[in-house]
Amino acid sequence: MTPADHTGDTSTGAKLLTAARDVIPGGVNSATRLVGAPYVLTEAAGAYVTDADGRRYLDYHAAFGAILLGHNAPVVDDAVRRAVGGIDLVGWGVTEPEIELARLVVETIPSAEQMISAMSGSEAVAQAVRLARAVTDRPLILKFQGGFHGWQDAVARNVISTPERAYGRDPLSRGILDDAIESTVIAEFNDLDSVHELYERYPERIAAVILEPIPHNVGALVPETEFLQGLRTITAEQGSLLIFDEVITGFRHALGGYQQICGIRPDLTTFGKAMGNGYPIAGLAGPRALMERFSSAGGDVLLAGTFNGNAVSSAAGIATITYLRDHPDFYERTHALGDRMRTGLGAIVSELGIPAVPAGFGGVFALYFTEGPIRGYRDLLRDNNEAYVAFHRRMTDRGFLMLPLALKRNHISAAHTEEDVDRTLEAARDVLRSVRDDGLLS
Ligand SMILES: Cc1ncc(COP(=O)(O)O)c(C=O)c1O
Repeated sequence: MTPADHTGDTSTGAKLLTAARDVIPGGVNSATRLVGAPYVLTEAAGAYVTDADGRRYLDYHAAFGAILLGHNAPVVDDAVRRAVGGIDLVGWGVTEPEIELARLVVETIPSAEQMISAMSGSEAVAQAVRLARAVTDRPLILKFQGGFHGWQDAVARNVISTPERAYGRDPLSRGILDDAIESTVIAEFNDLDSVHELYERYPERIAAVILEPIPHNVGALVPETEFLQGLRTITAEQGSLLIFDEVITGFRHALGGYQQICGIRPDLTTFGKAMGNGYPIAGLAGPRALMERFSSAGGDVLLAGTFNGNAVSSAAGIATITYLRDHPDFYERTHALGDRMRTGLGAIVSELGIPAVPAGFGGVFALYFTEGPIRGYRDLLRDNNEAYVAFHRRMTDRGFLMLPLALKRNHISAAHTEEDVDRTLEAARDVLRSVRDDGLLS
């Protein structure tokens, strides 16, 4: 990633970024945060964030989707405040908040009988992958081109690949052992034949198929029902596990995640992000028979983690899930706002004669700059990245925070309103016209 050039910028944010670069590599703690102005955010409340120079933005970035109820949602912050000063971190036995959180997850996620806590989605996926390998005694993990499942070795490959590297060898990092890269094989989303081919090529070697049920790390590819059903059938027939990585879709699209919507039960489910509305909490859930392979239950798969189940994270998770359970209208509202945004964007691009397709599900939306239909990553290779990035950059410059990187999605939270959506659409009309008139669509 190229460091953002902020030379000549005399804003407070630019000065702080310079200071950050002295002590933090590149000035940021995650590479995709380095995307130009605003460089430093200082306040967050509801649907808005404010930068170090006092400029307010309507936030569709939502901390990569970790914010679901709006920033600093009082119901979550109050629960966290109440947790501070109580049983903080003991590392002995279990605490009541951990039991309460697991009970809520088991009640809400259809395929969950037991859960373990983690601090991030990457950790939850790492546990799922190791558990799947232990249970099946097989080495390979099948993932889809375009799916992102965190930064650890087993899955850090083939997300937004260039056409030359898509479906081939495309690790996200140096420093990953060849064995780890080669132990993950790549298929095409919504294409069962590509999955069958890999099973033929690697008979009895695939431990698990892992997927984001809606691959939101490339915007929003909506799964075809037959595809998900087919995955369920193949994995069961072939003796592999099916892992739904619901780190983005979980709690966001429905209380029970996308598995509640599609009616398909994976063997294992990972979740995180929105579950704690901005506090670090994640987890892995599945049936008792699989989960009791963890060493905590006398099994042979290591379960460890100093901060697992800590009081603050658990309190945030309990408060968020309880709120969602008690306010089912949250889903109606955010889905309706998402529909309003997609319909509005669709009308604007057709009015302006721009070849673009609004995509998304529920409160998540994206605008692909290509003709439809879009079923899998192969179709996204036609996306005009220059126009996609310019659209997001220009919207951010106008005060609508949208991550200006290829295929990044946008999130609507409980704090967004109809008026916010309408204002966004008004700005989008001007921005899209400028993208067209500047010749970025060819
Ligand atoms: C689907 C999915 N899985 C796993 C992860 C990793 O989660 P974390 O960043 O909390 O480690 C992400 C992060 O973006 C994700 O989108």
